[in-house]
Amino acid sequence: MPVLYRYLLFAASVIPVCAAADLTGNWVVAQDRHDGTFRRTYFNLKQEPTGIHGSIRTTQFFYKISESTGGPEGFTITGSMMDGDRERKVRYEGKLAGDELHIGTRNRPEAPLTEMVAHRAPDGEGAMPARVEPPQLHKVADNGLVRTPPMGWNSWNKFAGRVTAEDVRGMADAMASNGMKAAGYVYINIDDTWEGSRDAQGNIRSNQKFPDMKALADYVHGKGLKLGIYSSPGPYTCAGYEGSYNHEVQDAKTYAAWGIDYLKYDWCGARTLYKDEEMQAVYQKMGDALLASGRPIVYSLCQYGRADVWKWGPDVGGNAWRTTGDIRDTWASMSKIGFDQDKLAPYAKPGHFNDPDMLEIGNGGMSETEYRTHMSLWSILAAPLLAGNDLRQMPPGILEILTNPEVIAVNQDREGKQGSRVSKDGDHEIWSRQLTGGALAVGLFNRSDQEAKMQVSWKQLGVKGNPHLRDLWLHKDVSASGEGYEATVPAHGVMLLRLAAK
Ligand code: GLA
Repeated sequence: MPVLYRYLLFAASVIPVCAAADLTGNWVVAQDRHDGTFRRTYFNLKQEPTGIHGSIRTTQFFYKISESTGGPEGFTITGSMMDGDRERKVRYEGKLAGDELHIGTRNRPEAPLTEMVAHRAPDGEGAMPARVEPPQLHKVADNGLVRTPPMGWNSWNKFAGRVTAEDVRGMADAMASNGMKAAGYVYINIDDTWEGSRDAQGNIRSNQKFPDMKALADYVHGKGLKLGIYSSPGPYTCAGYEGSYNHEVQDAKTYAAWGIDYLKYDWCGARTLYKDEEMQAVYQKMGDALLASGRPIVYSLCQYGRADVWKWGPDVGGNAWRTTGDIRDTWASMSKIGFDQDKLAPYAKPGHFNDPDMLEIGNGGMSETEYRTHMSLWSILAAPLLAGNDLRQMPPGILEILTNPEVIAVNQDREGKQGSRVSKDGDHEIWSRQLTGGALAVGLFNRSDQEAKMQVSWKQLGVKGNPHLRDLWLHKDVSASGEGYEATVPAHGVMLLRLAAK
């Protein structure tokens, strides 16, 4: 056989096999979310003699591949990225199977692989968008809204990604009729996972779970309530839906046209494009856009309390800013967050509040005693009161906690002064908040697992004489003798008092 012919035969048989066995390519796993959108994970791989290189994009995160082993018949890739000053990592294992990439992760090294199937995607799809330089800093004018902490409901704690327009209507019905509206609750806030894709002009559309946002806003307004929505300054939200990146002005106008009254703006995917030092400028963009939208829209910043947000939140037009990571429906999580807020008290003022995250009251992970502590603490903290439970089916005890008018009056005190810790003796803490007219809200909190006798003295509170005392949970005046007050406080419980001059 002539040499050339032999070579061609060899090449024909071998080259396609080599090409097919190469991991190089842009691979995508598309998981149907059943709302008209897909959760897409991209593996942009380059197989080279030195290893597998490239990037991984999953929901909001863009990782650079920093380590790899193996090849098409079996490989591992580890991606890493900086998130503020913290390094995040992901690790995948996979193999090439014909035209597919079978790829997965393990929750723990010994856990089974959760395998997904990736297909080839066009080059560039799923790539990190080009960075837009953040603007110069300036002061965004105060929008004049929420002079007292916002009160309402938010979908995330109970429903996470499952929330639908139907649920939202149901919450509005419940809030309007169960006493919550009368108690001051007004915002019905849709959190992440309402977003669809953008149209050809770049206008954001809602997904199939929210077929008509304008109609939904009209419905909620018809109940005398207000509607809130959620987005991110990044290209993707935390759940990997479309963010407002590079569409800030357009999105603010869309929200205004729909009749939206509140925006929670969650850092999420912005972390891949911007450093924490740039947050203020990035948040300022949406602050400006909301003001220019022509509709009063409450601006709630969610960036987990990074970059000392309480120092610049008001300057970007922020009405509230998260001070912590996400709350969970456990005593450990709620109490850790709540009792950690002491130092931030000086930053709260009418129209601008610290936000230690939404309420878990009624979600089932804590006792009513613990939920009373949650409500009391959030009221002393002048925190937004955003119920996070299913308002359509709530035991009377839970409704009573959420609507206690005397506790809400503490939260809504018009001077907007956040309370702080007066003393701490092991697990026993006394907190107080100054109220209009010289009154004081005082909480005797027992963080221990044992019922305890707790005392507070007038001296320690800076109170002269013998004040008038009211128990805000029992709704009755109580009398104290002498220099202070003593109460038996249940484990994880609170005695919440209002003190006023006699
Ligand atoms: C972040 C926020 C949560 C919630 C989710 C939605 O984790 O802190 O409050 O909005 O994103 O994806």
